[in-house]
Formats: sequence, structure tokens, C-alpha cells
Amino acid sequence: MTTASVEAPVVVRAQGVSKRFVIRKEKSLKERIVNFGRSNLHKEDFWALRDVTLDIEAGTTIGLVGANGSGKSTLLKVIGGIIQANEGTLERRGRMAALLELGAGFHPDLTGRENVFLNAAILGLSQKQTEQYFDSIVDFSEIRDFIDTQVKFYSSGMYVRLAFAIAVHVDPDILLVDEVLAVGDEPFQRKCMAKIEEFQREGRTIIFVSHSAEQIQSLCDRVVVLSHGKVVYDGPTDEGIDALRASFEGR
Ligand SMILES: Nc1ncnc2c1ncn2[C@@H]1O[C@H](COP(=O)(O)OP(=O)(O)O)[C@@H](O)[C@H]1O
Ligand SMILES: [Mg+2]
Repeated sequence: MTTASVEAPVVVRAQGVSKRFVIRKEKSLKERIVNFGRSNLHKEDFWALRDVTLDIEAGTTIGLVGANGSGKSTLLKVIGGIIQANEGTLERRGRMAALLELGAGFHPDLTGRENVFLNAAILGLSQKQTEQYFDSIVDFSEIRDFIDTQVKFYSSGMYVRLAFAIAVHVDPDILLVDEVLAVGDEPFQRKCMAKIEEFQREGRTIIFVSHSAEQIQSLCDRVVVLSHGKVVYDGPTDEGIDALRASFEGR
């Protein structure tokens, strides 16, 4: 925790961020008859994020929570620069490692070993640095026997083990974690939580999406609650858990 007198620098600043997806819906039977001969699909705009404004200071751990579909993964992707906002601005500082939805960032036809090198390169490590960390990454993942297997044959737990191992070995200033830990078994989850706590002590910034109130409570300095793409709460963790429960009722 930082002291109030020393302002930590802002490492992520979102201002008025909105993200629109175009969704294609199958037309109803009636519409199809009326529009006979034309496309069976119609397009609709859907705003997954609406006017999200957020400053994240270096060294904080933010819990990003909300109902399914509230926009958590979309916000993490915008913060991570994986997708672009349609409105607003997003500024970020420092090296970012993202642990997003399952398999994101892995090439299915490549082996675990090849994906380690590919991912580390994307995250800014040189070949030499990756070689240096390789054993430690594989040890952390505990899937050495499968490291030369194509990752399309991995179970979801194996994916996450390798992805987390890579993310924590590239020396990130900011770590984005999207739910994924839930698919690992309990010992691995514990190991990941210990690693996240170590990152906190080292002053790194963590943005953590989880459905576990217990994990959020034990890790986070601050909670941001999303509902229908909007920030409906941003503040201390305890009240954030209450705000999350209230947001479920307003669904
Ligand atoms: N690529 C996409 N195309 C269309 N809709 C999407 C896309 N990605 C997400 N959405 C929609 O945006 C909303 C927010 O999704 P998401 O950010 O994944 O929610 P959460 O992670 O909170 O469950 C959902 O309604 C989802 O269906
Ligand atoms: Mg999600």
C-alpha cells in the first residue's frame, strides 16, 4: 500500500473509453419473408464499454469485477492494447504482460516450447533472455513432459500453467489477469496467488479479474465494478464486494 503523501505515478489512464461491437443477428421468420431475397442477417451496434474513466497508480492491485458480459475482458483487452477503443483515450506506461482468455496468444499448431519463445518475443524478450529463463518457465508450469507437444493437445489447465509461467517471467510492470486462474488445479492456483503477492511486494501493478470474492478481498487495494459496460463502483475493496452483489440485482 502506498502512503497518501507520496503520489504514485499513473501507469494506466482511461478517459471516456467506449468500445462498440457490431453483432449480426439472424432475422426472425417474419423479417425474412418481408425482406425476401436479401440477407438473413441484420447488424446491430452493441456497446461493451461505455464511457469508462479510470486512473491506475503504479503498485496498486485492482480487482475488476462484474456479472458475466459486463465488459471486464473487453476492458482488459483495451488496456492491454489488444483491441482499440472506438471512443476515448487509453494511455499506458511500462511493460505489460497479459494473461487473457484461454489460449489467447498461443498458436495451436506450435509446441509449448515454440509458444514460449513466440510469446516471450511478443512481450519484448530477446531470444537470449528467453533461453535464460526457459527452464525456470517450464519448471514453474510443471508441464515439462508436454513442452514439445503442440498446444492444441493441451488441456485448459495446461494452457494456463504455461501462459502464467511465461507472463510472470517477462518482468512485467503491469500484469493483467483475466479469470483464467480458475481453471488451474488448487495447488497451481495457490502458487499463482503466491507469485502475485510477490509481484505486489515488488511494487508491480496488477489488474485482476476474478469471480472469487475471497481472492479479490485478499489481494486487491481497490475494486472497480462494471455493469453493462459502465463503471458503477470504484473504491475500497470491502464496499466493492457489496457493490458487486448489488450490481447482480440490477441486472
Ligand atoms: N468480439 C466481440 N464481438 C461481439 N460482441 C462481443 C465481442 N467481445 C465481447 N462481446 C460482447 O461484449 C460484452 C462484454 O463481454 P466481455 O468483456 O467478454 O464480458 P465479461 O468479461 O465481463 O464477461 C458481452 O455481451 C459480449 O458478448
Ligand atoms: Mg471475461
